[in-house]
Amino acid sequence: MEKLMIDGGKRLSGEITLHGAKNSVLPILSASVLVNGVSVIHNCPDLSDVRVTVNILRYLGARVKREGSTLTVDTTGICRSNILEEYMSELRSSIIFLGALAARTGNACLYLPGGCDIGLRPIDLHLKGLKSLGYFVYTQGSNVCASGEDIKGTKIVLPFPSVGATENIILASVFAKGTTTVINAAKEPEITDLINFLNKAGAKIKVDSTSVITVKGVKSLHSTEHTVISDRILATTLMSATASCRGDVLIDNAVINDIMPTLPVFEEMGCEITCNKSSIRIKADNRPHCVRFIETMAFPGFPTDCQAPVMASLCVADGMSAIKETVFENRFKHTEQLNLFGADITVKDRIAMINGVEKLYPACVKCTDLRGGAAVVIAALTADGVSYISDIKHIDRGYERIENQLASLGANVMRIKDEKK
Ligand code: UD1
Repeated sequence: MEKLMIDGGKRLSGEITLHGAKNSVLPILSASVLVNGVSVIHNCPDLSDVRVTVNILRYLGARVKREGSTLTVDTTGICRSNILEEYMSELRSSIIFLGALAARTGNACLYLPGGCDIGLRPIDLHLKGLKSLGYFVYTQGSNVCASGEDIKGTKIVLPFPSVGATENIILASVFAKGTTTVINAAKEPEITDLINFLNKAGAKIKVDSTSVITVKGVKSLHSTEHTVISDRILATTLMSATASCRGDVLIDNAVINDIMPTLPVFEEMGCEITCNKSSIRIKADNRPHCVRFIETMAFPGFPTDCQAPVMASLCVADGMSAIKETVFENRFKHTEQLNLFGADITVKDRIAMINGVEKLYPACVKCTDLRGGAAVVIAALTADGVSYISDIKHIDRGYERIENQLASLGANVMRIKDEKK
């Protein structure tokens, strides 16, 4: 077991390049199952979630090679259509293999998925979507299975633009006869990236401006090459750290349009934001201003994944801020940890009230989940003195060697052995 030791209170400055988006690379790796050949995927961050996904692909019979940030996935030899508990329990997005494997093999059985503990996270919309396409969906012990050979395109209306359900339906319908339309589909940038990957491999998928995705069934997908988009959540995490520690940071390899929903919040905090074609500069010289009200929503709303990091910056703002979490029902676990630094946050139902304090104090805390982990790192960077953060396996799921990234901006962060465990 490892933990982070952070000697906080330092200004952040310098230039940093964003790594690839976790939420893009995971579904794209699942989608590679549909390809009859080789997928060369660039800009794949070395995250624990990516390593688990690679292990799933190898278990299924794919050959996977990593060279730097490029993964070469040869799925010609896929010979299995089930995924075991040991893989499925590691990450939530493993459920996206259901649509891909069912479409490829005609019969997929997956152990029910794990992932961050941020709410109930049902998969009813995924399963309903697959059923509408004509798959026979059933449970077998703790496994969820989908089988079917004669899959036909259909119209699927999502009651909520679920990211995972949209991805699963797209993958399950790539080889369907005729056309599938998904109404009220999610339009997160990672969905667009998945569609771009599939279209390069020969799929025929279109998205229109009203959130309707149209998938025209094709017979097969061929070898392809793709570069994963950069991680917009990492960008916001770095901006939150700068806002709260003060500093001047240039973030390269950014897709400005993807980060846009969070920019007004940093402007309201009083940060100076300058966007160029593919970089964002954030300058923060003063204590952040409070932000009256933030409400998380599906894209292009304020992302739920940025809620915790931004909350960490608001802990030292000059007044009261409010954040309403509308996407997940239990995504405020980090608030207790932030309060251990001397923050003043109260939660009632889905609203967190953050009463800004002058300063945070060093603390010994734990990561409650991936983005909650990022929030406590930001609090530790802000507090003068040495803090210790345990359970950092959560952070490693979505941030590649976070200590190196922050150290490159002048922070004093070290990964050390956790002697207790
Ligand atoms: C994905 C992201 C996650 C992000 C979330 C919302 C990945 C790997 N993860 O998660 O980082 O926070 O989108 O942007 O891409 N729901 C149902 N039934 C379903 C599916 C979802 O009720 O069948 C509910 C969920 O419980 C949740 C909400 O819909 O309350 C949003 O979930 P969804 O958009 O599906 O998120 P994920 O795909 O799990």
